[in-house]
Parts: sequence; C-alpha cells; structure tokens
Amino acid sequence: MQQLHFALLASLLLLLLLPGIRSTPTDQKANIVHYQPEQVHLAFGETVLDIVVTWNTRDNTNESICEFGIDGLHQRVKAAHMPTKFVDGGAKKATQYIHRVTLSHLKPNNTYLYHCGSELGWSATYWFRTRFEHADWSPSLAIYGDMGVVNAASLPALQRETQNGQYDAIIHVGDFAYDMDWENGEVGDEFMRQVETIAAYLPYMVCVGNHEEKYNFSNYRARFNMPGETDSLWYSFNLGPVHFVSFSTEVYYFLSYGFKLLTKQFEWLERDLAEANLPENRAKRPWIITYGHRPMYCSDDKEYDCNSDLETYIRQGLPMLKWFGLEDLFFKHGVDVEIFAHEHFYTRLWPIYNYKVYNGSAEAPYTNPKAPIQIITGSAGCKEEREPFSKDLPSWNAYNSNDYGYTRLKAHNGTHLHFEQVSDDQDGAIVDSFWVIKDKHGAYPAPQ
Ligand SMILES: *[C@@H]1O[C@H](CO)[C@@H](O)[C@H](O)[C@H]1NC(C)=O
Ligand SMILES: *[C@@H]1O[C@H](CO)[C@@H](O)[C@H](O)[C@H]1NC(C)=O
Ligand SMILES: *[C@@H]1O[C@H](CO)[C@@H](O)[C@H](O)[C@H]1NC(C)=O
Ligand SMILES: *[C@@H]1O[C@H](CO)[C@@H](O)[C@H](O)[C@H]1NC(C)=O
Ligand SMILES: *[C@@H]1O[C@H](CO)[C@@H](O)[C@H](O)[C@H]1NC(C)=O
Ligand SMILES: [Fe+2]
Repeated sequence: MQQLHFALLASLLLLLLLPGIRSTPTDQKANIVHYQPEQVHLAFGETVLDIVVTWNTRDNTNESICEFGIDGLHQRVKAAHMPTKFVDGGAKKATQYIHRVTLSHLKPNNTYLYHCGSELGWSATYWFRTRFEHADWSPSLAIYGDMGVVNAASLPALQRETQNGQYDAIIHVGDFAYDMDWENGEVGDEFMRQVETIAAYLPYMVCVGNHEEKYNFSNYRARFNMPGETDSLWYSFNLGPVHFVSFSTEVYYFLSYGFKLLTKQFEWLERDLAEANLPENRAKRPWIITYGHRPMYCSDDKEYDCNSDLETYIRQGLPMLKWFGLEDLFFKHGVDVEIFAHEHFYTRLWPIYNYKVYNGSAEAPYTNPKAPIQIITGSAGCKEEREPFSKDLPSWNAYNSNDYGYTRLKAHNGTHLHFEQVSDDQDGAIVDSFWVIKDKHGAYPAPQ
C-alpha cells in the first residue's frame, strides 16, 4: 500500500514536472554561446607581406585578436574594429560574426605560426610562409573554379599539396559550396570549414560566380576579404613577376543589383590595366593575368551564356549596345593570360581575338603570341558534375579535358610561365602542359 502510494505520488510529480523537462532542452540550446573561432582563412592584404586573417564566431566576442610569430606566438594584433555581424538572407536569419585581422609588415621568406580568436576562445595554431614583395622570384599557384561541398573532387590533392608547401597562393575562380546561401548559410559554413586545411595555410584568393548571387552576393561579400574596398568584387595584387586582376563577370548578368557596379568595375579595370601596362610597371611586373568566372568563348553548346550567335556579354558587352565589352579592353592593354571557369571542364584556347587565332607562330603558338591566351578551368568538382563539350569543337580550341582537376601555374620569371592541368580521375597525372614565352610585353600588334 505504502509502495503504491509512493509510486502514485512519484508519477504525479513527474507529470507536473514534465512540461518543464520537455522545454528545458530547447531553452538550454538557445542559451549556449559559441565563441569558438572557425572557418579560418587567409588572403593577401595591400602587399604580399600583409596577410589578412578571417574567421567566424557564432556569437559576438566583441574583439578579434591574432597571436603570431616566427618562433612562437610572441606578437599580438587586435583589430581596431568590432567583428562584423552577418545575417544570412534566409528564413532563419542565421547570425554570425566575421572577424578580420591584418598581420602587417611581415618579414619575407619566413614561416609564421598563428592562432586567432579572443580571450573567450582560440583557434588551433596554423602556419603560413611569407614570400617576397619584389618581382624576382617564381610563385607557384593552384587555380580552379566551381568547387562545392559535395563531390569536391580536387580537394584531397589540393590539401596534400598545400600541406607539403607546394604553393604560394590559391585562386578559386568563382562558384563555391553550391551554394553558400543554402540551408540558411550552413552550406557556406560547411564549405569554409572544408577548405580550412588549404585556406588557413595559404592566401585563398577568389572572384565571384553566379552561384553566389543570392541576397546580392552577401555570403561571398561577408565571408571573403580581398584587397581594396570593393567587397572583394574586383581588385588586383602583385605576386612575383605577375600582376593579377580579379573581376566580377556577374555585374553583367545581375543588373538588378545595380548598373552602377558594372560601370564602376569597368572604369576601375581601365585604370588598373592602364597603370599595370605602363612601360615602367611592365618592366617591373611583366605579366598581366586576369581571372573572372564566366568565359568569353563557349565550347559547350548547352551553355546558356552563349546566344544562338555564340555571343557573351563578357566578350562583347551588353546586348545590342555592346557597352563594357572586355575583349577589346584586355587586348588593348596587353593582358597576357585570361583565366575563366563556370563550365565544368578544362579548355585551353589558341591565342585569340574576335574569333580569330593569332599564334606566335605555327610551331610555337604561345611564344610571343599576338593576342591573349585564354583557359577555362571549372572542373574542381561539385554536385552538378561534369559538363559536355560541343560535338563540333570550334577551331580556336587547342585542348579539352573532361576530367576533374585543377590548374597549376608557375611564373618562372618575366619571360616564362608554365601551366599544367592535373587530372583527379587519373590520380594526379598531368594531362596538359604548356609554356608561355614572351620577350616583350605590352599592347599587341593591330589585328590583321
Ligand atoms: C559585448 O558588448 C555588448 C555591448 O557592450 C555586451 O552587452 C556583451 O555582453 C559583450 N559580450 C561579451 C562576450 O563580452
Ligand atoms: C628563403 O628561405 C629558404 C629556407 O629557409 C632558404 O633556403 C632560401 O635561401 C631563402 N631565400 C632567400 C632569397 O632569402
Ligand atoms: C548590392 O551590393 C552592392 C555592394 O556590393 C551595393 O553597391 C548595391 O547597392 C547593392 N544592391 C542592392 C540592390 O542592394
Ligand atoms: C595555331 O597553332 C596550332 C598549333 O600549331 C595550329 O594547330 C593552328 O592551326 C594554328 N592556327 C592558326 C590560325 O594558325
Ligand atoms: C626564365 O625561366 C626559364 C625557365 O625556367 C629559364 O629557361 C630562363 O633562363 C629564365 N630566364 C632568366 C632571364 O632567368
Ligand atoms: Fe558558374
């Protein structure tokens, strides 16, 4: 009897408490604060010896600090500004805080250790190697576009080679994560965590692609910190003998976000290229290499950027008006190489201007070519998988590969560039390689 009483009392008590028990887990969840830094990644700042460290925390720590040094974490920089609050555009309005600290005036040719965070929590300790501000060294880069969270085919090799110290920088030519705004930005978070074993060790330089469009490219603009004051949309930087120019092809397609972005970028490109092409600057940094996401020429007949007459806005400018076309601008200022992605394959073109091939010579097409060289490298792997080539390949196509993979560039010196295409399908085999050799840089001869 007593026992029964006790059991009854106990279940009554349990019943009374139940609503409380049910509601505590969610309440507690909402109250947990996350000050742990994550998604650490690097970029070049105003010079090669200024490294910008970016990371995120879920909640606001009110401060952003990096500790770093050559033989230990003896130096300390605290950002002068508060972390930036970033609210994703999705239904959940997921909030995070983005931290940016610049490690300035670093010593060249040294390996630095660093970690970042605040007194409320620190990241793991990572390392990066500084290079030189002058032009007289030979940078090695890995270059690719269109890499997602799912099916990131090139990621294992890129991580291994980064950890081996094979590269001085990465260039990701647009289209990240597929897509960064998905699942209230969680796909973007996942991508940034996934590339951390590359991007926390090397400047991860980027340009914007069509997959970043949602909410006015806000995930891209918030998560990356490229040089300049343009929300990472267009900028340039010098690395060894190369002047790299990054631009947005998307300002030609999403005019609803502002026609002004298109005109401002074009004016900036004119200024930046004219300056880089001054004889005294060309003598110092002979090569000009551009990168933007969508290509000028189509090799894929289902490609929606090409009209029936195979025209692209990037090459020719806005439809009908033909304003802001980039082929003429790049030709005029003697751009050496133009790198694109967007199509999920690799293509190398013969030197080309206005559909005409301008080989250096029949024997050595890339030795003193009479027009820019273009490559498309959009095959690092994503859930949209590979894309087919047109059945009849245009005559300007020099080489195609449908393998997953990425491009390596070594800028040996002012006269020699070397490119390689790595195949992930063939276990790292080099499926294409070529030298670009130029005795003289600058404007091309008038097209015949
Ligand atoms: C950050 O600053 C705000 C405003 O002063 C304050 O309410 C909050 O508690 C601070 N957060 C931390 C983690 O110190
Ligand atoms: C850079 O550092 C490496 C290894 O520490 C050294 O072998 C090399 O000589 C240095 N290069 C220059 C130009 O200082
Ligand atoms: C989109 O973002 C850019 C900054 O990158 C800004 O200049 C522009 O006004 C924004 N457009 C709209 C429609 O909000
Ligand atoms: C350019 O060079 C390549 C390789 O030698 C050759 O196949 C192609 O026909 C050349 N094109 C022109 C227009 O000379
Ligand atoms: C530039 O690099 C190439 C390839 O390594 C080399 O053959 C050439 O001699 C170098 N030129 C100079 C001036 O060092
Ligand atoms: Fe794309």
